[in-house]
Amino acid sequence: MKTPLVSLSPAQIASFAREGYLRMESITTPEEVESIRAVYDRLFAERRGRDVGDQFDLGGTDEDDRPAALPQILHPSTYAPELADTVLRAGAEAIARALLGPEAVFIEDHAILKPARHGAETPWHQDEAYWDPAFDYSSLSVWVPLQEATIENGCMAFVPQSHRNEVLPHHPIGHDPRVHGLEVDAADVRAAVYCPIPAGGATVHHCRTLHYAGPNRTGVPRRAYIVTLGVPPRRRAAPRRFPWRDERQTARDRRAGLAKG
Ligand code: NI
Repeated sequence: MKTPLVSLSPAQIASFAREGYLRMESITTPEEVESIRAVYDRLFAERRGRDVGDQFDLGGTDEDDRPAALPQILHPSTYAPELADTVLRAGAEAIARALLGPEAVFIEDHAILKPARHGAETPWHQDEAYWDPAFDYSSLSVWVPLQEATIENGCMAFVPQSHRNEVLPHHPIGHDPRVHGLEVDAADVRAAVYCPIPAGGATVHHCRTLHYAGPNRTGVPRRAYIVTLGVPPRRRAAPRRFPWRDERQTARDRRAGLAKG
């Protein structure tokens, strides 16, 4: 395990509890950003995980012969184990323990690529809306751009204090059940804060914080590497339903089902 570069101040810990997000200038080194970027580009170029539903189009209908609007890879560190032994990962774990408690552990990682000029927006959503409603979560995601993240190329934006909400109703992007990506039905986002950060910086958001990333209007791909960590989920006493999960019929789920047999 590498040694983390970051440690959070009491002011940062209090700010996350109050606002539901944090913005950090650096959680890894320029050299490590370079090496992660090389792995990242290789995984997308080789379409790793596509056959088992781990690589897919988050923002479109995900047909094989069409360029993806929002290419995503789930669990990239299972395809490239070197991603698990990084200063970035050690930093993400230190952040999660500081913000959620000592029992917080790595849950999963993913990669969202916004190709040059045609990367679509990631609509407003809460991450917990993607998850099994039978459980209670205390989780966060550490979002790390592998180049500078700007308003022009799709940096993250957050609605402060929105993590205090319950999970709001969501629907698939464009109300198309073939699309994996979710969008909140309605939310007041007038207070949104955009968070441009340098390469190797990070934003941290709670699993209920409303967030958004704009389209990539630049000539350079926008690569984001995201690590999700949390306290192991606990089964809820009171049931709840996320009907938008039941209605989904994505090509990714079909590939995952075929791969499992
Ligand atoms: Ni999200």
